[in-house]
Amino acid sequence: MSAPISSYVSQERLWHRHEQLALIGATATGGVNRQALSPEDVAACLQLVEWGQALGMQASRDAAGNVFLTLPGSDADAAPVLTGSHLDSQPTGGKYDGVYGVLAALEACEAIRAAGLTPRRRIEVVAWMNEEGSRFAPGMMGSAVFAGVRRLADIEAVQDAQGVRVGSALREAAEALSAIPLRPLGRDVFGYVEAHIEQGPLLERLGKTIGVVTGIQGKRTFQVQVQGEAAHAGTSTRAERRDALMAAVAMVGALNVRMHDELDVLKFTIGRFSVVPNAPSVVPSGVMFSIDLRHPESAVLLELGDAIEAICKANAGPCDVSVKELSKAMSLEFPADMRKRIRDSSNALGISHMDILSTAGHDARYVHEVCPSAMVFIPCHKGITHNEEESITAQDAAAGAKVLTEVLVGLALS
Ligand code: GLV
Ligand code: MN
Ligand code: MN
Repeated sequence: MSAPISSYVSQERLWHRHEQLALIGATATGGVNRQALSPEDVAACLQLVEWGQALGMQASRDAAGNVFLTLPGSDADAAPVLTGSHLDSQPTGGKYDGVYGVLAALEACEAIRAAGLTPRRRIEVVAWMNEEGSRFAPGMMGSAVFAGVRRLADIEAVQDAQGVRVGSALREAAEALSAIPLRPLGRDVFGYVEAHIEQGPLLERLGKTIGVVTGIQGKRTFQVQVQGEAAHAGTSTRAERRDALMAAVAMVGALNVRMHDELDVLKFTIGRFSVVPNAPSVVPSGVMFSIDLRHPESAVLLELGDAIEAICKANAGPCDVSVKELSKAMSLEFPADMRKRIRDSSNALGISHMDILSTAGHDARYVHEVCPSAMVFIPCHKGITHNEEESITAQDAAAGAKVLTEVLVGLALS
C-alpha cells in the first residue's frame, strides 16, 4: 500500500510558517495586531503569495480583497475545491486564529505537490478579507461578498473608528497587491473546507485531536447610538441633563438582566463602548456601544435579538437612542457527507476525533451558502483565544493539516 498523500505534510514547515507570520504585526506582549486591510494584513497576504508562488501556485485576488492561490487540476472546467481562512486578527489577537486554516491549506497543497499528484479539480487556498470585524464591523466581509450574502457596495461604505472607509482601504490594499491579477467575484465552488483552532477547551479537555464541526451557532450584532447633550459638570442641574452615559448604563444594566442565562448557553457581549466627548468635566453628549449576541437555537436568538431595541428605548430617559442591526446569521448545520469525509480521513490516519459545535463564527458560515462546506478543528490550549496568550501545539497543527489534506484530495479527485 502506498503512503497517504498526507504523509508529505511537514510539521516543521507548517510551524515555521506560523512563526514567520506571527512576526508581521507582532505585539510587545506576544500576540499580533493585524487588523483587516492594515499594512500588516496586506504584508501577511504578500508573504502567503510568495510561499504559494514558490510552490508553483497561481495567485489572484478579487474586488472584495480576498486573496487566492490556485493549485491546478487536470480538468480546467471542473469546479474548484476551496480551502482557507483569514490572516487578519483582533487588536490583541493570537498567532493562530485564522492563520492556522490558511497555512494548513497551503501545507496540504505542499503535500499534494510533493506526492506528485495532480487531482482532477484545482484546489484554491483563500485568505478571506476581514473575518474579525474589529476594525470594520461586522466581520466576514470578504466571504459574505464572495457568497453574495452582502453587496460589495455595502461593505465599501463601512467606516473604521478613524472614518476610513472599507472602499478606500481596499483601494490602498489593491495598490500594494497590484502585481497579483484581479479575478471576477466567483461562486462556482465544488466544496469548501476550513481548518481552524477550536477556540474553546473541549478537544483538549477530552483528549481528542480533531473536531468534526457539526455547525455554527447563530449570531446577531448591533450598534446602539445614544444621543444626549453636552453640559457643564458643575453648573447643569440633574433635571436639565441629558446624560448619554447614564442612559447607556441603564440600558446595559437592563439588557444584562434580560440576557442572563442560568445555563450559560446564551452569549451576550458588549465589547465596544465609546463616550463623546469623553472629557472629565463634560456631561456626555453621546455613547456608542456594540452588542454581540449568540445562541445555538435560532428561535431564541430571534426572540432575544428582537427585544433589544425596546429595552434600550425603555431605559433611554431624556436621551434618544437608535439601534442598528449590523448582522443577523442563524445557526447552521454542515452537510452530513462533508462531516463524514473528515471522520473517515481521521479514522484512516488513526487520529482521534469528536463532533463539536462551533460557538465562534467563521467564514465557512457564508461559503456554506454556495457549496457543501465543512470545518476541521484542532485543540487550542485552555480555549484561550482572541487573546495574545492563544496557543496550540505543532503536533496538533500537523495532525489537522493531514486530515485536511486527505479531505481535500478526496474532494479534488471526485
Ligand atoms: C470570530 O472571530 C468570532 O467572533 O466568532
Ligand atoms: Mn478565526
Ligand atoms: Mn477570531
